Order: sequence, then structure tokens, then C-alpha cells
Amino acid sequence: MAAPNDWTPSSWKSKPIVQDVVYEDQDHVDRVLNKLNRLPPMVSPQEIEKLREQLKDVALGKAFLLQGGDCAELFDYCSQDPIEAKLKVLLQMSLVLTWGARTPVVRVARMAGQYAKPRSKPTEMYQGEEILSFRGDNVNGFDPKDRKADPERLLGAYFHSAATLNYVRALLDSGFADLHAPSNWNLNHVRSDAVRHEYQEIVSRLTDAFDYMQVVDAGSTQNAALRSVDFFVAHESLLLDYESSLTRQLTSPSSKTKKWYNTGAHFLWIGDRTRQPDGAHIEYIRGIENPVGVKVGPTTEPEKLVELLDKINPSKAIGKVTLITRFGADKVDKHLPAHIEAVRNSGHIPVWVCDPMHGNTKNASGGVKTRHFVDIIQELSQTLRVHKECGSKLNGVHFELTGDSVTECVGGSMDLKDTDLSTNYQTYCDPRLNCHQSLDVAFLIAKYYQKERISSDFPSL
Ligand code: PEP
Ligand code: CO
Repeated sequence: MAAPNDWTPSSWKSKPIVQDVVYEDQDHVDRVLNKLNRLPPMVSPQEIEKLREQLKDVALGKAFLLQGGDCAELFDYCSQDPIEAKLKVLLQMSLVLTWGARTPVVRVARMAGQYAKPRSKPTEMYQGEEILSFRGDNVNGFDPKDRKADPERLLGAYFHSAATLNYVRALLDSGFADLHAPSNWNLNHVRSDAVRHEYQEIVSRLTDAFDYMQVVDAGSTQNAALRSVDFFVAHESLLLDYESSLTRQLTSPSSKTKKWYNTGAHFLWIGDRTRQPDGAHIEYIRGIENPVGVKVGPTTEPEKLVELLDKINPSKAIGKVTLITRFGADKVDKHLPAHIEAVRNSGHIPVWVCDPMHGNTKNASGGVKTRHFVDIIQELSQTLRVHKECGSKLNGVHFELTGDSVTECVGGSMDLKDTDLSTNYQTYCDPRLNCHQSLDVAFLIAKYYQKERISSDFPSL
């Protein structure tokens, strides 16, 4: 699929834009964008097409998609320990899911570029003064004295993304994935003996499967699902100046023709606030070859969703678009059936993913934002059930998570309470699942699929 004739990497500039960033010095912005435009691609058309192929399998139910990472990645997270921790938890989760769902898992991290955030308000109050909101490290600093939009940060985003990706690639090339074989897992954080026992049982069975794979795979170059370490990166396509300066016309490895690729990430998504069918963000995303996501919320009308799909994917390529639903635990029943029905009638075959995070944000008693593990599991289980009842299938999950032991979400097997949140509350944006809560979710999904072979109840924690 070549880009439409009326599209260029900057055709979005003629469309209405929301969440735009206003800089004081446009010459400075232009100098930065020219520089970005000359910097080398971070990802290749080969990798992008590989992910497109894998997502086609996901859309057809032959593989499962795991997306996860920080809400707002900071330049500071571009460091050895946080990168290793995040990679480790995503690999562990994918191993559990591969085993549970009995399908390969495609891993797409919110990482190496998730630096820009949409905000509900452009300003906020700080010590009685109105200041600009933090828009992500790509735009301004979290420090209240550093809120002016700084174009140099766009270059900072490129270099931090490149350094992160470089280390991820080095780790995977050096056998990091093998180090996270289940035999090394520690389940000491699990409070309930019964739950720990259940998890241990899964880990033992995984270890067995893993050992078996090592034996049958020894000396063979064939990549079995459990051993494959493909790893892709994604971020929200929000700062269109940045995205279009990394958009290049390159030769497609499959068709040998020139196509437009966003070379700053394998996968890009459009957020719930910027998905207007006639707006700038949808205009930009419709011309690139990369697989793309669209967040779908309670305010998405089913007809608008089909209009969006027709616009982004007129050839109806299977798995080109991932629909990431995020309604809130109590709204899935109300909205999802009509979305599934409209999409089915349109003939599009997207990847259906559940983001059980963004519809379930609450204020904790201490005033910080939190999410309750039970709500997250509730949204997931409702979504699995509704897809099934509608003759559809949930193809993947999308989480905000970190590899560290933060205390931002309530609940999980370590049973974090509201009053524990202040122990290690780190996020500069939305609350994330910590490494233990992330594994909890993976275990529960694995158990769901295990039980589904017998009955359709979602297991409780
Ligand atoms: C996000 O994924 O960080 C986000 C802002 O989500 P949404 O657009 O669904 O609100
Ligand atoms: Co978020």
C-alpha cells in the first residue's frame, strides 16, 4: 500500500490540530527539525514490515500482542538498570502469556520514544501560581521552573531513544532473553500462600517447557515461539513536527517500491484526545507504512471508528490497525459490542487490544493518581467476555508498567494499600503497574486461557 496521492509527511499542517505545542522561537524549531531530518533512521523498513506481518497473525488470532511500558518515559530512564528491568519484566510476561495462550507473543514496548504527553489542561496551579503543564521530556521539564517548551528537547528525544534502543538490541543479541528463563524467578512478594503456590505451579510447568525447548532446539537455527526474541518499540504519535522529520521514503523490502516509513519507532499510536477523523494526527498517520494503533474510548462513536479505519487503512490490510479499547471497567458492556459490530460490518480486520489502564484512573486518599488492580482485571475480564459473546476475539493487551518496584497502583499479589502508595511513588504522569503487579496480570491472563479450555470464568486473584 503506497501513501495516498494527496499525502506528504507534512500534509497534516493544513488540518486542525489539537494538543499542539507553541514555541517562542520558530527559527530555533526549524534548525532542530532540519537536524532531525538528517539523522539516521532508528528502525528499518525490514523490521517494520516484519512487525506488520506478525500483527497480521495477531489479527487472525494466530498470535497474541503484548504492549507495555511507561506512561511518560523520561530521559532519565535511559540508563542501564531501568532499561534492563523493563526488558526483563516484558520478557517474563511474554513467556507466561506464550505458555498460557499457547500462541507466539508479539512484544511492543512503550519505550525508546514515549516522551510526549497529551494533557487535559494546558496549565496547572503550583503554589498559587498558574504554570504550564508538564508535556513530557520531549517538550518541557517536570520542574516547575522548566515548563517553557524547548525545541532542543526534540533532539534530546532522538538521542535518548537511539541510546535506549541500542542497549535493548545489545542485550537481546547477547542472550539477555535466555537469562530470564523461569527457573530464575522469585515469587517471594506474593502474600497469599495459595496464590504463590498457583504461580509456582505455572513457573514449574514453564520451566519444564523451557528446558524441553532448549533440548529440542539445541543446534537448530529454527526459532521456536518460546525462544524468539523479536522486540519492537512504540510511542504515541503526538508531536507531529518530530514524527514527520523522522519520516523517510525508503525501499520496501517486499515490494521493492519506495514507501514512507516513520523511522523513529516500529509502531505508533494515536491517543484518545487526538483521533479526530479530519484532524492533523489522523492525517499524518494515514500515510505511513508502519502498523498503527488508535485508542478507542467511551466517546468514540462506532460510525466514527469505521470512518477512521477507512481513512487510515483504505485497502483493509489485515492487522495494519490496532484498536486499543480503554473504556473503564464499568463501561465495557455499554460500548464494546457496538464497536465490534460496526467494525465487523465494515470488513476491516484490526488487532483488538485492551488497555485496562486509562479508563480506570482514580484519586487516592493522599491526593495522588492511582489505579486499582481489581479494576484493571475487571476491565480485562469484561473485554475478554464481550469479545467472546460477540463472536470476536481479544488479540492483545496494553499496560502502563515499569520494571521497578514502584508503589503507584493499589492491590495485586503484594496487596498494596492506598496508604502504601507514598513508599515509592515515582511516576510523572499516570500510575504504572510495578514488576510484581505486571507479572500478576500475565499469570491471571495465562490462567484465564488455561481455564478457558474448560470453562470461561475469569480467575480471581
Ligand atoms: C496513554 O496511552 O498514555 C494515553 C494518554 O492514553 P489515552 O490516549 O488512551 O488517554
Ligand atoms: Co498514560
